[in-house]
Amino acid sequence: MKKEVMGLVALLVVLAGGSVADVDRMAVAEKLYDTYCVSCHGEDLDGNGEVAELLDPYPRNFNKYQFVIAYKDRFKNSLLHGVAGSAMPPWKNVLSEDQIEMLVEYIEMKIVDDAPVTAYKRLRADMPKPGDAERLDYRGSGALLEVGDVERGYEAYHKHCTSCHGKLANGKGPNAIALGHAMPRNLINKHFLNQPEITDERIYRSILLGVAGAPMPAHDHLSDQVILDLIAFIRSNVEEAN
Ligand code: HEC
Ligand code: HEC
Repeated sequence: MKKEVMGLVALLVVLAGGSVADVDRMAVAEKLYDTYCVSCHGEDLDGNGEVAELLDPYPRNFNKYQFVIAYKDRFKNSLLHGVAGSAMPPWKNVLSEDQIEMLVEYIEMKIVDDAPVTAYKRLRADMPKPGDAERLDYRGSGALLEVGDVERGYEAYHKHCTSCHGKLANGKGPNAIALGHAMPRNLINKHFLNQPEITDERIYRSILLGVAGAPMPAHDHLSDQVILDLIAFIRSNVEEAN
């Protein structure tokens, strides 16, 4: 009798479009999440876990579905190695790679269920090099890019970025509080900026295209030269830490 009930459940699951194995996998992932992640990322995956308030930066809010979908590939790496300069610990000695993949699938499953948009894809943009043509060359002057300049970057930063990231570049600008989740990144956090994943190319893309699902806006009105200068400025702030 019990067997028949189980069979019926399995049949209903299959009819609903999933396989029994998928359901088991997600049940395991939910358990893992409730054991290892919930204290920070919260029961509703909104980054409001019990200890969240004490952390800076706050745990990631996974209800921002654009973020989850755009950066799914990145999540695995963050889970394996942690996010330096934040409370997000590395999990590679605690969880297997398969368990980590399950958790990423679980996060995606939970938010995509609620989210109408499933086709969001991160735009790609290759980082230009010194000597390349300027992307925004309105006057057709044929300007070529130079190596980023710290002084010019400092000026551009104070013109475009302090409202959120603050005059000290610590992420605490006058508009920061109003933004809520996610807060502007602390751009003088050397542990964050010196991680191997935080390449100049990632910073270039985040400035040019914004961070999907977070209040970091796109800045495609800035020339590539200005963005290279901004990167040089950001790097110079944490240079002595290298
Ligand atoms: C001690 C608190 C804490 C625990 C426990 C924790 N996290 Fe995090 N997590 C954070 C913080 C803080 C961030 C934000 C890091 C940042 O600002 O980039 C984060 C970020 C993330 C990100 C986004 C990384 C990125 O590249 O943007 C993922 C994915 C994630 N956590 C998954 C998990 C999962 C899954 C677990 C459980 C296995 C977990 N976290 C456990 C604090 C925690
Ligand atoms: C409206 C507020 C706002 C403005 C203006 C703004 N930012 Fe941000 N920025 C954010 C927020 C919020 C985040 C955090 C996103 C996250 O958690 O991934 C962020 C993240 C970043 C990051 C980290 C991206 C990554 O890949 O992890 C960089 C670098 C950055 N901002 C640089 C800049 C620069 C340079 C400017 C000025 C040209 C600027 N921002 C203007 C809000 C802002």
